Amino acid sequence: MEPVSDILLSWFAREGRDLPWRRTRDPYRIWLSEVILQQTRVAQGLEYYLRFTERFPDIAALAAAPEDEVLKLWQGLGYYSRARNLHAAARQVMSRFGGVFPATYGEVRALPGVGDYTAAAVCSIVYDAPCAVLDGNVYRVLARLFDIGIPIDTTAGKRTFAELAQLQLDTSRPGLYNQAIMDFGALQCTPAQPRCGDCPLAGRCLALAAGTVGVRPVKQGRAKVRDRWFNYLHVTCGGQTLLHRRGGGDIWQGLYEFPLIETDKAADFAELAATAAFRELLGNGRWHLRRSVTMPGHQLSHQLLHAVFHRIECDAMPAFPSVETAALGGYALPRLIDRYLTKYQM
Ligand code: ADE
Repeated sequence: MEPVSDILLSWFAREGRDLPWRRTRDPYRIWLSEVILQQTRVAQGLEYYLRFTERFPDIAALAAAPEDEVLKLWQGLGYYSRARNLHAAARQVMSRFGGVFPATYGEVRALPGVGDYTAAAVCSIVYDAPCAVLDGNVYRVLARLFDIGIPIDTTAGKRTFAELAQLQLDTSRPGLYNQAIMDFGALQCTPAQPRCGDCPLAGRCLALAAGTVGVRPVKQGRAKVRDRWFNYLHVTCGGQTLLHRRGGGDIWQGLYEFPLIETDKAADFAELAATAAFRELLGNGRWHLRRSVTMPGHQLSHQLLHAVFHRIECDAMPAFPSVETAALGGYALPRLIDRYLTKYQM
């Protein structure tokens, strides 16, 4: 059977992002990119990476700058201790290592602001050290692939995932493999609405088989309430309304709903219309947005749903299941959708 790592690496060759720090093996630049990308999305981090490398082309330039200038350049990224540690680490590399970035895991790990993740990322990408990275993306991919229900925010969970991550690592190409699994988590095995339909690991994914994709990974937390943003497309065409039955692994299994685009924060209609899901659904015909209805927060036991319904009429039937509009009331609908229909349906 083809190893999972080979599948991830072929996926990465096809779908991986072309990013400036992937075109260098300069440890300073790799380290800088990894510090910036902690708690920051690639789209936002890119701009800062370019800014920093332009102003500070090497670690000596960064070390020589006043801290204020480093913090100013960091402005907008948040978590300012990262910038202070970045600067302090650059100064240490100058004073303790003669300006040459250290090359062992232990020395890199000991730099200010460098934790297990950053040390593993830098050492694997730059020096081919056989260290598996463990970030939010990796937790999610592994928890789903192996359908692991141990909470990731416990000591036992962290140990289990660290061992599993290390077992999965392709030690002949650790840097490439680490970036592959992180990109896979960021682009394919996403937190909301993972693309299981075209996933090269679908046949191997235990959570997909068990219907638990939506609840992996598990976090113990303090029974925190999770916010979710549901954007429903209430689409009619002639006397038909688009409606499908929800699958498993998430809330409302087996209930009926309109086409749903889930986002990780509030999204306006223009943002939705630009998504692949929207274009796949309605990109081939003419449609008209009649109105958008924002519902009051909808509280579930551990989730707070922020729902918006976009009422759309279209000329040609999209490729999506539909029912007679007149028969809509006969389907098992979540209360949220029922409320919307009762209150706003003409
Ligand atoms: N997130 C942080 N560092 C990354 C990397 N090197 N590749 C993909 N995603 C990342």
